[in-house]
Amino acid sequence: MKYIIGNWKSNMTYNNFKSYVQQINTLKTDIAKITVGISVPHIFLLEAEKTINHPIYSQDCEAYKFGSNTGRISYEHLKDININHAIIGHSEQRRFNDNTNEIINTKLTTLLNNDFNVILCIGEPLDIYEENKTIEFLQNQIGSALKNVDIKKLNNLVIAYEPIWAIGTNKIPSNDYIQNALQEIKQYVEIITKFKNIPTLYGGSVNLSNIDNLKTIVNLDGFLIGSGSLKADDFIKMVYALEK
Ligand code: PGA
Repeated sequence: MKYIIGNWKSNMTYNNFKSYVQQINTLKTDIAKITVGISVPHIFLLEAEKTINHPIYSQDCEAYKFGSNTGRISYEHLKDININHAIIGHSEQRRFNDNTNEIINTKLTTLLNNDFNVILCIGEPLDIYEENKTIEFLQNQIGSALKNVDIKKLNNLVIAYEPIWAIGTNKIPSNDYIQNALQEIKQYVEIITKFKNIPTLYGGSVNLSNIDNLKTIVNLDGFLIGSGSLKADDFIKMVYALEK
């Protein structure tokens, strides 16, 4: 299975959202071979779920149940509107919303225990990359995120490797570097859980002009794409490029 997930972050007007829906619904892909997901701002989740013919991913959510948490979206809200896909641990959530490794672990276990399909994002900041400590850093993020996770639920987990310094910067590690990181991620998950060949995505400055090169990376099971996914035309072309 390949994966290509568009992460809109806090972008898109309502009008553009409506035309995006029409365009994306023209996509013809083999769902047995490729998962095309759209991760929309919370305000569009309900309508996206009703109108888009592809999995809708929440851009994070809270692990607690309905309750007195002003301004927060509970995973129970998502379940209630039939959304069972979510991104957890995105570096922007880690940085701007205080998502510590512990919080991410709680979110991940709660979501997997509630039969969500989860994309766990991990990735190193620039100083760690420059000091050549990326693999240790990723192992630490994986180890804490997967602590006490029910191994039987790992079929619903995908890991996205997103170097923080590559997000929105047009700077991308070499293909060899990404290939090695993805291989290390798969190996480490297997060492700590016995689960083999966890799907691994790359994210960070992927766009229409570099996807053909990036998709040749061994160990790569797909992409998490931010700004490159905001124009439906481009995103559709990227889906077909990956599917080929
Ligand atoms: P980008 O973002 O494609 O805009 O670099 C990727 C991400 O943050 O998921």
